[in-house]
Amino acid sequence: MTSPSHTLRTDVVIVGGGPAGMLLSHLLAADGVESIVVEARSQEYVGARVRAGILEHSSVELLRGAGLGERLDREGDEHRGIYLQWPDERHHLDFVDLTGRSVWVYGQTEVQKDLVSARSAAGQEVYYECADVALHEVESDRPAVTFTHEGRPVRIEARAVAGCDGSFGPSRGAVPDAVRSIWERVYPYSWLGILADVAPSTDELIYAWHPDGFAMHSMRSASVSRLYLQVPNGTPVEEWSDDRIWDALATRLGHGQDGWRLEPGPITEKSVLPMRSYVQTPMRHGSLFLAGDSAHIVPPTGAKGLNLAIADVALLAPALADLVRRDDRMLAEAYSDTALRRVWRCTHFSWWMTTMLHTSEDPFDAQLQLSQLRWVASSEAGRTGLAENYAGLPIGF
Ligand code: DHB
Repeated sequence: MTSPSHTLRTDVVIVGGGPAGMLLSHLLAADGVESIVVEARSQEYVGARVRAGILEHSSVELLRGAGLGERLDREGDEHRGIYLQWPDERHHLDFVDLTGRSVWVYGQTEVQKDLVSARSAAGQEVYYECADVALHEVESDRPAVTFTHEGRPVRIEARAVAGCDGSFGPSRGAVPDAVRSIWERVYPYSWLGILADVAPSTDELIYAWHPDGFAMHSMRSASVSRLYLQVPNGTPVEEWSDDRIWDALATRLGHGQDGWRLEPGPITEKSVLPMRSYVQTPMRHGSLFLAGDSAHIVPPTGAKGLNLAIADVALLAPALADLVRRDDRMLAEAYSDTALRRVWRCTHFSWWMTTMLHTSEDPFDAQLQLSQLRWVASSEAGRTGLAENYAGLPIGF
């Protein structure tokens, strides 16, 4: 026998308990707006998945402004810039000198922990492990979300639904095909990413073009390194033994060049990540508002995904507060156009970084990439363009 449906009411149902959804619930609460978060996965799964590691300047300012900056300031690592390299040359781009803005190394897993502890301290209602999540009547002013939780059907009615449930969640598909437009680019390569228990061999991130393929040296802390290798699509992770990975990283990152050494160490996580650009518009349909990966995916080069999700939520929170508390629709109606300006800027930047740094089979492309890299590194205009986009444009760009 199924138990009777349980109906709840709140101001905003947030579908997805990742960083976008949890930050939204935090910002809404600060504005006196109540929300319930509905997440398909378990709390452990959401908290443990290895994701982005770089926060741009405006993300850091926003988290600090929301009272979420304490551990970030203590444990995060501020970087002035990055290294851009190709065989025999490594150039430092100093974002602080170029734009007055820095970036921070602070993993998405850490941001998520800070959000979860702030929200649980405030008594936020979050339903984890929800099955069959579905959105209803999003074209009306009384949308609802239904799901099954611990065997019991639940229905939550609200004034608005925020779709923060990524590219696999139900929200993006709740915008009818007749209404939505989709732009997509699939890249002909993937990343093999590793986490290793070894101190980073560099003080700031290295982005390397190499004839064998792109490589990157990132980090998570003073004792954990994160590194990536370009690999062909469909590469089985088993093809890459730890030794093969470290050898390829050493070659592509220039071990031995000007006395620089790559220190290998035990690999604790290894996975292959496909690369894709995707934008779905509009980001609002009736009372449904999409934020983060539910509306857009960027390839990881340039570290924009998490920052873009934070920027969406920074625009969405005041829009929903005006809608719920004052019945003022102006910001809600402008949300999609306003957010998409930044989405397309970051989509372009991520595509630009990706196509500049990943090798194809085409020798003509390789010459163009090297020419562009030399120009970016040697011209103040080139360096500044990269720095402005990487360290991040203002939230309201
Ligand atoms: C990381 C990922 C990126 O895509 C990037 O550009 C920089 C850093 C990371 O995972 O650390």
